[in-house]
Amino acid sequence: MKKHLFKLCIILSCLLFSCKNEKKEPYNSYKELNKRYTKFLKYEPDSLAFPRSYDSKKEKIKKVPSKDWTSGFYPGNLWQIYELTNNADYRELAIKWTSFIEKEKFNDKTHDMGFKIFSSFGQGLKQDQNNQKYKDIILKSAQTLSSRFNETIGSIRSWDFNKKNWAFPVIIDNMMNLELLFEATRISKDSSFHKIAVKHANTTLKNHFREDNSCVHVVDYNPQNGAIRSKITHQGYNDASAWVRGQSWAIYGFTMAYRYTKDEKYLKQAKATVAFFLNHKNLPEDGIPYWDFDAPNIPNEPRDVSAGAIVASALIELYEYTKDETYIDYSKKFLKNVQTSNYILSSDIKAPFILKHSTGNWPKKDEIDEPIVYGDYYFLETLLRLKALQ
Ligand code: GLY
Repeated sequence: MKKHLFKLCIILSCLLFSCKNEKKEPYNSYKELNKRYTKFLKYEPDSLAFPRSYDSKKEKIKKVPSKDWTSGFYPGNLWQIYELTNNADYRELAIKWTSFIEKEKFNDKTHDMGFKIFSSFGQGLKQDQNNQKYKDIILKSAQTLSSRFNETIGSIRSWDFNKKNWAFPVIIDNMMNLELLFEATRISKDSSFHKIAVKHANTTLKNHFREDNSCVHVVDYNPQNGAIRSKITHQGYNDASAWVRGQSWAIYGFTMAYRYTKDEKYLKQAKATVAFFLNHKNLPEDGIPYWDFDAPNIPNEPRDVSAGAIVASALIELYEYTKDETYIDYSKKFLKNVQTSNYILSSDIKAPFILKHSTGNWPKKDEIDEPIVYGDYYFLETLLRLKALQ
């Protein structure tokens, strides 16, 4: 009896030890990621409901129509998984989901055209470079987006809501939509899109950055004379704080603008905002930022993996221009740290997402510390960019 009890104790301690160890160990990324990718294969296409995020308390997927700013990321994820795995089943799904977004090319009520069209049709065009239909859709979308440009201000209008308080709001996120315009010029040789993108980038450079090279979220302009009415936040902690995803959009946006223009002032700004980000006292050791650098209860604040992923991807590109190892080191560290059980969604969860711990809109208490589709998009892009570099 004593002998059996002793044996049982040994078995139990071994089990406990291995569970504890399993938690600490990095995931075998290939195996674990593949388990996550297969959830995408099992998810039924629906032209009216794009998976946007996962509510882990309600165990429910939040779904949105194609007009939502995030709709392009889900097809974009499928395109990128196809590129990573070479499995044509992902390509089939990517083509289908991408087609559901086409009508957005006429939607002039939003600046999010780049996010929607370029993350879906843009990714598709990368895989199939002679796809005339995709090129035409990108061009039409660029024309529609250009209709929101105001020459007096030198910017594309971001939002149409909250007209009571804002006359012409421009958000830092809008830098991301310029890729669509730059590409539209490359495809069509019509330089008007490129010119609008450059004017928008210059106005953002002039008005969105602070002394410490962090950026504000929203600059509201007077559309009649171009004067600044206010500098505020919408998704950050307060008007003076550094909302982390805003910093990420700035870093990615100015690195990308440098790609198309080779204008040194864009490179300078990207590097300066990276320095702000990487040297910030509130950036945790593992490199995954809290949702706002000035959030009041750090370290007891939710992280925003999506912001880390955007920066990790941008820094691979910035490394290519500068050969500064600091940049690539961050991207590698990010990839290593998110590919652990702390960040990869458990394979028990069927929802088609990969990473946990992104934060969408803290002031609205919406999508806090959850898997969100754009976190996965920039994570996959980082994997692909690193693969291409190596
Ligand atoms: N509007 C894009 C974002 O929430 O980051």
